[in-house]
Amino acid sequence: MYIIGGTASKKVAEDLSKELNVPVANTISKRFPDDEFYVRILDDISKEHVIIVQTTYPDPNIIELLILQNAVKESKAKEISVVIPYFGYARQDTKFQDGEPISAKAMAKLIGINTDRVITVDPHKEHILDFFPTSAFSCSAIPEIAKYLKNKNIDMILAPDKGALNRAKNASEIIKCDFDYMEKTRIDGETIEIKPKKLNAKNKNVAIIDDIISTGGTMAKSIQHLKKHGAKNVIVACTHGLFAGNAIKKLKSAGCNEIISTDTIQGPYSKVHIAPIISLFFNNYTR
Ligand code: R5P
Repeated sequence: MYIIGGTASKKVAEDLSKELNVPVANTISKRFPDDEFYVRILDDISKEHVIIVQTTYPDPNIIELLILQNAVKESKAKEISVVIPYFGYARQDTKFQDGEPISAKAMAKLIGINTDRVITVDPHKEHILDFFPTSAFSCSAIPEIAKYLKNKNIDMILAPDKGALNRAKNASEIIKCDFDYMEKTRIDGETIEIKPKKLNAKNKNVAIIDDIISTGGTMAKSIQHLKKHGAKNVIVACTHGLFAGNAIKKLKSAGCNEIISTDTIQGPYSKVHIAPIISLFFNNYTR
């Protein structure tokens, strides 16, 4: 068995290699002068089960994954597993209006060509797994996020919308605290509205948990709402920290006390590691 990490997920691949006690294959990679990607696998991986780890965000990382998959296939690996810590385009999982693509399906079909299975973390909606022509599984980062939050004296977990309710509930069960949710309406990519709702947040330490923080609009509105209800400290936590544009500034000016993300997208707020939950998958399913 070998692990190969794409440039977006080198650290996760190394962590996974330690968790599973499986070597990371030696590779060389570069960008040609015109920016096209090149990779060469130096180890003999023929007849091996190879796990490729690569987040498919931003776009160049998709091409890199497809090329890595081809290199592994051409090297005659026995079995290929693709771990996609953050599966980009998952939110366009249906045609919201005529003429639109189902981008999640388009990505799944491409990635599904050279793999025996796909494993991803907290996809926006589970049904996107059915878009893959091969078997596809999801892992939840919530237990690891909850573990991280456990020593932060959290009184309540809040879901910013109904879609995030189950994740918030799971985390609250691990932390052993209350949970609640808010009702959000998305007006456009940048604007959201939160229905006024009475929250029992006075003097409480609250953690808001969502799958993605992109523009930070959802979290910023939720923080403001909580602060209005007298919350003492508000932490925001997510699996996938995209932090697009001025998201961080938005969160801080809304009064956020701490920002937590996992390392599905590596960045300064990647305080929670996902390799342990991915290793559980491989220990349970393929050994
Ligand atoms: C949407 O339903 C997702 O779960 C997130 O709430 C959303 O992607 C967050 O986006 P933003 O940070 O731009 O509000």
